[in-house]
Amino acid sequence: MNKQEIIEILSDDTKNDWLFRQADKVRHENVGDEVHLRGLIEFSNICKRQCKYCGLRSSNKEVERYRISKDEILMYAQKAVNMGYRTIVLQSGEDDYYDTDKMCEIIREIKKLDAALTLSIGEKSYDEYKAFKVSGADRYLLRIETTDEKLYTQMHPNASFEKRKQCLYDLKSLGYEVGSGCLVGLPNQTVESLANDILFFKDLDADMIGIGPFIAHEQTPLKDENNGDFWLALKVMALTRLNLPDINIPATTAMETLNPNGRIIALQSGANVVMPNVTSTEYRAKYEIYPGKICINENPEQCRGCIEGKIRSIGRTISKDYGFHNKK
Ligand code: SAM
Ligand code: SF4
Ligand code: FES
Repeated sequence: MNKQEIIEILSDDTKNDWLFRQADKVRHENVGDEVHLRGLIEFSNICKRQCKYCGLRSSNKEVERYRISKDEILMYAQKAVNMGYRTIVLQSGEDDYYDTDKMCEIIREIKKLDAALTLSIGEKSYDEYKAFKVSGADRYLLRIETTDEKLYTQMHPNASFEKRKQCLYDLKSLGYEVGSGCLVGLPNQTVESLANDILFFKDLDADMIGIGPFIAHEQTPLKDENNGDFWLALKVMALTRLNLPDINIPATTAMETLNPNGRIIALQSGANVVMPNVTSTEYRAKYEIYPGKICINENPEQCRGCIEGKIRSIGRTISKDYGFHNKK
């Protein structure tokens, strides 16, 4: 699709059902009916950055900060593999405590387990990304958040849009499977910029794209802004499926935060991945990037059972393989 076609669909709500059905069909034809589960370990909520939308930004003094030790991370990873997860995702704020050596050691230990490994720990140098890759990391998630440079600069004090893009191209050139994505509903974000986001995902040749609605957090500068719209986020996701037919697309937690059935609706509108949390309840509420996050009172076993039931209820199955991007 060209930019104009994407803008037209995003601006017209009369054809939404058609769009979601098309995306579901393209998902079925290109990546099948299996859903890939990724076991998510949110191992530190300490962050040096100031992203205006995020509850973990460094100037939020009200959040109780935590770091999970290497041994505890490995314990969760082992538990996740025992529960049948074939991918572990390590996510955190940008926390310099976990330097290259510490991260590489964790990566090497996790790679002794039978699982693919995804990192989502922010912007690093080419050499750091290289060291993680050499240690065994398979994939990396780094959302561009928005391709509107002006908006990007407003949302990310002291950060550079060029550096963000460079990180993604560095990751690609190092042979990672690269995941990116955007927020939908940021203040002053236009439909045109959302269309540009989708075209950017294609230009990047992304392997995975996560789309999430923006959700306003009380302890951030965006506290008085409106939340993003669930249906608009779903449309951006469905259009991403139509334009990148064979990639992996998660049904995001933020979607379910805005709509009690959000992940299932997403799985029926183009998504084929879910990322349940595999850490214990004591950390979940503290990783409050936005309010109302789901699953904060559940334990890993409950989440696993819950999501499995939901996936089966719509006639889909849980994949038993690593869930790499099968390029067509
Ligand atoms: N620190 C790493 C990074 O920023 O890439 C990884 C963790 S960060 C919490 C993961 C994602 O959370 C971000 O890419 C952002 O899109 C999302 N996020 C942060 N604040 C949000 C909010 N208020 N509403 C919705 N999503 C949000
Ligand atoms: Fe830190 Fe990521 Fe939140 Fe930005 S989005 S403040 S980098 S945790
Ligand atoms: Fe956590 Fe449903 S996936 S309670």
